[in-house]
Amino acid sequence: MTTLPKLPCFLNGDYTDLANAKISVMDRGFIFGDGVYEVVPVYGSRLFRFNEHMARLERSLAQVRIANPMARVEWQALAERLIADYAQSVGITPQSSDQLVYIQVTRGVAMRDHVMPSDVSPTVFVMTNAMKPPSAGQREQGVACVTADDFRWEKAHIKSVSLLGSVLARQISFDAGAVETIMFRHGYLSEAAASNVWVVKNGTVFGVPKDNLVLEGIRYGLIESICRAQGISFELRRIPRQELLEADEVILSSATKEVLAVTTLDGKPVGAGRPGGVYQRLFAGYQAAIAQTKVDAG
Ligand SMILES: Cc1ncc(COP(=O)(O)O)c(C=O)c1O
Repeated sequence: MTTLPKLPCFLNGDYTDLANAKISVMDRGFIFGDGVYEVVPVYGSRLFRFNEHMARLERSLAQVRIANPMARVEWQALAERLIADYAQSVGITPQSSDQLVYIQVTRGVAMRDHVMPSDVSPTVFVMTNAMKPPSAGQREQGVACVTADDFRWEKAHIKSVSLLGSVLARQISFDAGAVETIMFRHGYLSEAAASNVWVVKNGTVFGVPKDNLVLEGIRYGLIESICRAQGISFELRRIPRQELLEADEVILSSATKEVLAVTTLDGKPVGAGRPGGVYQRLFAGYQAAIAQTKVDAG
């Protein structure tokens, strides 16, 4: 078994550390994958797009009928305390501390029965880790992806901890030495194992509709607003497989990848085979949004 580090975390009201935090074997998160989660990026100790992440957490909880155990201000105070504790425990200054806060809420502990128990309190677990953004090489050269059929369930809009479909999907690209698996459902683009996918054609950024087949990444709104600010046309519509294969640029987005150019797909070059002009503009816009968060936070 992997030995867990003594990094700070929060479990059911207690500030503790990863090596000591323990849950019941009857937790429905463990038994059924019955829970939801969020991953919030942190730059210079400041939560990035926190309200948007909280709104998505509230939507996910409502979809699976778990009552939100805390108010937004309480989630924020909890996250900020862990961010500070983490920076202190690894010996870095708050200003240089880029992290990822992981929040998980499961339905709680009950004897095993598929039916949702009524008298149960949710299990709340929060931890934070160092942010591992793409390397300088990945930024300069872009990354390789592979394609696969989307065999996940049809409630991909819920940020559920039942992630076996995503684990199996991501492993396909890992085994091929690639960074993501871009998936298609009935011949149309859905998303990647842990990222949204953007297609650029003739200067327009295309994304797929925000329906039940994809997770609405927090970068959906951010990319749309960067496009608007920079005069780049932006459109959400269904994208047939062929359009992805013939794209000028393909871009991934997620909390950790931010925006990241895909330069080979199933071993073949995407467009010119290097990060394109629209990617460069989205990346610059994203970095400006991060810088603004630090300024706004004072
Ligand atoms: C399946 C899936 N789609 C999209 C995303 C991107 O979401 P976000 O931009 O909020 O990180 C993620 C993030 O983990 C994901 O797991």
